Amino acid sequence: MLKLVFILISLCIVLSHSKVCKKKSFSRISVWIQEENRERYQIINGCITSDNLRYNSDALKKVRVSNQNFSTLKKGAVANISANFTLQISHNPNFTTIMEEAFLDLPNVFEVDLNDNMIDWIETNTFSNQLFLAAIDLSKNQLEILLHQTFYNVPNLEIIDFSGNKFQFFDQYWFYNATRLSMMLLHHNRISSIPRASFITLPSLTDIDFENNQISYIHKLAFEGLQSLQSLDLEKNKLKSIELDFFQTPNLNFLGIGENEITYISDQTLSGLQTSLRSLWIHFNPWQCSCIQKVLNWGALYNINVSFKCNNTSLFCVVPKVSENECTELTEEDFHSNCLKEFKGICQKLHS
Ligand SMILES: *[C@@H]1O[C@H](CO)[C@@H](O)[C@H](O)[C@H]1NC(C)=O
Ligand SMILES: *[C@@H]1O[C@H](CO)[C@@H](O)[C@H](O)[C@H]1NC(C)=O
Ligand SMILES: *[C@@H]1O[C@H](CO)[C@@H](O)[C@H](O)[C@H]1NC(C)=O
Ligand SMILES: *[C@@H]1O[C@H](CO)[C@@H](O)[C@H](O)[C@H]1NC(C)=O
Ligand SMILES: *[C@@H]1O[C@H](CO)[C@@H](O)[C@H](O)[C@H]1NC(C)=O
Ligand SMILES: *[C@@H]1O[C@H](CO)[C@@H](O)[C@H](O)[C@H]1NC(C)=O
Ligand SMILES: *[C@@H]1O[C@H](CO)[C@@H](O)[C@H](O)[C@H]1NC(C)=O
Ligand SMILES: *[C@@H]1O[C@H](CO)[C@@H](O)[C@H](O)[C@H]1NC(C)=O
Repeated sequence: MLKLVFILISLCIVLSHSKVCKKKSFSRISVWIQEENRERYQIINGCITSDNLRYNSDALKKVRVSNQNFSTLKKGAVANISANFTLQISHNPNFTTIMEEAFLDLPNVFEVDLNDNMIDWIETNTFSNQLFLAAIDLSKNQLEILLHQTFYNVPNLEIIDFSGNKFQFFDQYWFYNATRLSMMLLHHNRISSIPRASFITLPSLTDIDFENNQISYIHKLAFEGLQSLQSLDLEKNKLKSIELDFFQTPNLNFLGIGENEITYISDQTLSGLQTSLRSLWIHFNPWQCSCIQKVLNWGALYNINVSFKCNNTSLFCVVPKVSENECTELTEEDFHSNCLKEFKGICQKLHS
């Protein structure tokens, strides 16, 4: 009898040692579990693991933590779940920090959705070796910076959403071996420049969205190596020129440069675009009238849809003091002083 008690005690010790939840991340939070044919809530303490979460592994679709009170995902916060599922941790206003190995042993996790929290710090080894992870949503958080290799060996990652954060730059070395990454959303951040070969280690990119940043400088070879790039959105930035080498991106079919401060585009730039481009959005820039005419003629010739009107307003363009009939690169002094200013702001302002 004594022997049996002893065996039971040692068994218990072994069991508790094998628990993955060594650090408590949650204190009585409500977790929503979706399976193929049912869904329900469960109260969780400590960590979300296969030991304390009740689910059927073959049927698990989604685990969601929403509107709960916690600040930090510590090591093993979500751990040891082998199902193919989506993990959503969204709309938690006190959630700021993700520590190393917060997501542990989730070999088949398909999507990690962390949108709309207050995350401002992610340690390394958070997204690593999740071999089937296809999408990560980090939109609407407070991120300014990430560490190198935050996304380490995620060979099936296809979509990453960084929109609505506070990034002032993008660094491709946040990723390591993200060889299938095709869609990169960076809109609504504070990025001001895009240096040379910014995406050279991410050759599968097809879509990059930089809308609504502060971009005033793009290196001519910023998009070097992006043979697959199809869509590039640079709308709502502070670009004064778009003299990029588009021969580097031979499959580009959409380019958005509306709502910038561009007055001019060269023949060289247009010829880099004309082989593959289908659609070019140029509305609401202080174009020289001669340049907009050139672009429209060029679009008609190469069958490219040039969207130049700002939301159903009439066409606006600028007549410079010099070279009125020729689309040439001019300096600010070559324009009448009020002309360019009139264009600063968003489309609707011109309606009134
Ligand atoms: C991991 O989960 C399995 C069941 O899915 C369980 O048998 C095992 O004890 C868990 N491992 C740890 C370290 O908790
Ligand atoms: C976040 O924390 C603050 C202060 O600790 C608390 O007042 C607030 O209710 C918390 N938010 C949620 C959603 O629990
Ligand atoms: C949220 O958590 C913080 C820290 O754990 C605690 O001080 C606060 O009272 C909590 N707020 C609510 C509404 O539970
Ligand atoms: C996981 O499920 C998704 C569909 O929800 C599927 O596309 C994907 O291939 C699955 N992944 C694995 C590793 O089975
Ligand atoms: C990264 O990818 C390369 C080539 O695809 C491969 O040789 C290497 O083993 C990968 N690294 C890791 C850590 O998996
Ligand atoms: C051209 O683009 C505009 C704006 O996106 C769209 O409404 C229109 O249908 C397009 N036309 C063609 C021929 O693709
Ligand atoms: C665009 O403007 C024209 C003339 O101002 C008007 O007749 C038309 O209904 C407008 N279209 C839309 C979609 O607002
Ligand atoms: C065009 O108008 C619609 C509705 O009137 C508005 O939501 C949209 O933001 C406008 N687009 C631009 C580029 O101003």
